[in-house]
Amino acid sequence: MYETISELVARYTKVTWDPVSGKHFGSCPFCHGRTDTFMADDRKGIFFCYACGASGDKKDFLARMEPQKHGMMTGQKNPLLLQIYEEAAYFYYTELTKTDHPGRQYLADRGISMDGIREYGLGFAPDGFSVLYSRMIRRYRHGELMASGLFKLSARGYPYDFFRNRIMFPIMDENGDVIAFGGRVLDDSKPKYLNSTETELFSKRRNLYGFPYTQDTRGQALILCEGYLDYITLHRAGFYNSAAVLGTALTQEHARLIAARYKEVLLAMDSDEAGIHAAKKSIELLRKAGLLVKVLDFSPYKDPDELIREEPLGIEEFRKRIEHALPAHMFLARHAKETGELIDILMQQVV
Ligand code: UTP
Ligand code: MN
Repeated sequence: MYETISELVARYTKVTWDPVSGKHFGSCPFCHGRTDTFMADDRKGIFFCYACGASGDKKDFLARMEPQKHGMMTGQKNPLLLQIYEEAAYFYYTELTKTDHPGRQYLADRGISMDGIREYGLGFAPDGFSVLYSRMIRRYRHGELMASGLFKLSARGYPYDFFRNRIMFPIMDENGDVIAFGGRVLDDSKPKYLNSTETELFSKRRNLYGFPYTQDTRGQALILCEGYLDYITLHRAGFYNSAAVLGTALTQEHARLIAARYKEVLLAMDSDEAGIHAAKKSIELLRKAGLLVKVLDFSPYKDPDELIREEPLGIEEFRKRIEHALPAHMFLARHAKETGELIDILMQQVV
C-alpha cells in the first residue's frame, strides 16, 4: 500500500509540494482543470478539489479512480453525471430533429429515418465552440461539467465542447441511462469517430454498444460487430442479439461479459486485413472465456451494414452468411500466415 495520500495521487496526476502550506497541489484527476485546484494533505490523509468539490481519504480516492476494482460500478453510478449525460443526449437529439438539418439527410442516405433517430436516440452536436457548455453552465458547476468528459479546456483556459459538428450515438447501460457518446463526422474528415473519454460511468474496455438491449439469449448467439452503424443496421434488420465494440480491440472484460449471457459468438468484423486481425485476437479471448466462436464472411462487402443495405434481399443474404459461418479453427487455418501456425491450429483441434 502507499505510504501517503500524495504518493497515491501522484500515480494519477502530477502534484507538487508547497513548503509553505505543507500540502501537495496539482491538476484535479476528476475534473481535469488546467489550474492547480486539487490538494492532497499528507498530514490529515485527505484530498480536496476546490473546483469540483471532490474530497475524501485514500479509500475514497481509489474508489473514484478505479471504481471497477473497488466495487462501485454496480448500482451506484454518480447521479449528477448521469443527469449531465441525459441532458446532453436530449440537447443533441433536439438539434437533429430540426427541420432540414444536414445530419438528417446524411442519416437518410445511410438508411436511417426519423423513427430510427428516435429509436436509437441519435443526435447532433452543433459546430459552435461551446454551444453545449454555455447551456449547461447555467445549471451545473464548472467542475461538475469538466468531470463529465464532454468538455475540454482550450490552451487559453476556455471550456469548449469536445463533440462538435458530429452525428451523436448515445451509449447506454443496463438501466437505459446514457453513459457515453460516439460522434461521427458528416464527411471524410478525420478522425471519423470520436468516442467519449473514460469517466466514472464509462469504460470502453467493459462496455459494448447495444449489448444491454440484446434479448432472449437462450440458445442464441451474439453477433459481434465493429461499428455503431453496423449495430443499428443489424438491429433494424431484426438481429436483436447484436453488439458493437467501441473503437477499441475486444478485451477480456468484454469476453467475460458476453460469456455470462451467451454460449456462442458470431464475429462480424470488417472483411479487410484489420478486420481479420481483430477477429483472430477476439477468437483467442472469447475462447478463453469459454465461448464457442464462429466467423461471418461479408465479401465482397466491407461490413454487415454494407451487405444488408447494398445486396438485394440483404437480410436474407445475411441469414445465409450466418448459416455458413466458419468455425473459429477453420477461420484461423484459412488465415494462418505460415505452415507452423497452421499445424498449431490443427493440433489444438485434435487434443
Ligand atoms: P470503421 O472505420 O470500420 O467505420 O470503424 P464504419 O463503422 O464502417 O463506419 P461508417 O460505416 O463509415 O460510419 C468501425 C468502428 O471503429 C471505431 C468506431 O466505433 C467505428 O464504429 N472508430 C473508427 C473509431 O473509434 N474512430 C475512428 O476514427 C474510426
Ligand atoms: Mn461501415
